Amino acid sequence: MTLTATELFASYQGTGPVLRDASCVLPRGSRIALLGANGSGKTTLLRCLSGAHRPDSGQVRLDDQVLTYDRPHLRAHRRQVQLVLQDPDDQLFSADVTQDVAFGPLNLGLDESQARARVREALDLLGITHLADRATHQLSHGERKRVTIAGAVAMRPTVLLLDEPTAGLDPHGVAEMRVALDRLTAQGTTIALATHDIDFALSWAEQAAVVVDGGVRQGPIATMLRDAALLDAARLRQPWQLELAVRLGLASRAWSMDELVAALGGPATCDRPTA
Ligand SMILES: Nc1ncnc2c1ncn2[C@@H]1O[C@H](COP(=O)(O)OP(=O)(O)OP(=O)(O)O)[C@@H](O)[C@H]1O
Ligand SMILES: [Mg+2]
Repeated sequence: MTLTATELFASYQGTGPVLRDASCVLPRGSRIALLGANGSGKTTLLRCLSGAHRPDSGQVRLDDQVLTYDRPHLRAHRRQVQLVLQDPDDQLFSADVTQDVAFGPLNLGLDESQARARVREALDLLGITHLADRATHQLSHGERKRVTIAGAVAMRPTVLLLDEPTAGLDPHGVAEMRVALDRLTAQGTTIALATHDIDFALSWAEQAAVVVDGGVRQGPIATMLRDAALLDAARLRQPWQLELAVRLGLASRAWSMDELVAALGGPATCDRPTA
């Protein structure tokens, strides 16, 4: 299923339009990084895509199913499109992890044993089966983030929208998050995530959707991040890999660390040479 936003205009009470003619396409199974300055409208766009915020005009649709904002249709849309907020404390309600992750499946009308199976599956995908019986309020920030994503994954969504899933995580936590995202991608889940971590975005995403001046510019991430005017307008910096590749005259695609080292005439692995 493809999730599409077309010509969205969106505002909040008392604000001018935050999104002004914003369009983007999330094809089935794609990995899309949503980039842009603070306050540019990334969260607003994710909320519009999930049905949590109703735009003033424009259209959100899953394949050819246009989102209308009546309760049954919103419910059906949210079953397919799950949004995970940036702050896990806005989304964790239950006393323990299993209860929290089971909340969505039980709400779908699944019975206890079906919901338990969904919880096991989601915790396994996120690599947090060891947290199943823990009290949610005792978890670390990184653990809570993964629990909230597990709660969304337990709904078996087609599209997962993640607002800054790596914010506040240490490098090990980011690596674990990446493993979880890769597992979800391998299952065919579409993932769009908002992030300020440009290096993570370049290494993870196929496409970038850059929110700038209320609109969205979308394209292959390595191409987008080479567009100096766009980077400037969106207050983004070029990832060092791209900058180095440009200086080496290798700007045709994104290069891995090993390839760049090899191009510099060094050993093709980053291991310290042995004496
Ligand atoms: N509930 C709200 N009420 C009023 N204004 C809001 C609300 N939520 C967001 N805004 C405003 O909308 C604009 C876009 O906010 P949004 O949260 O979508 O940006 P963002 O790109 O996600 O920023 P950040 O990178 O800081 O998370 C900002 O100017 C913000 O102040
Ligand atoms: Mg935001």
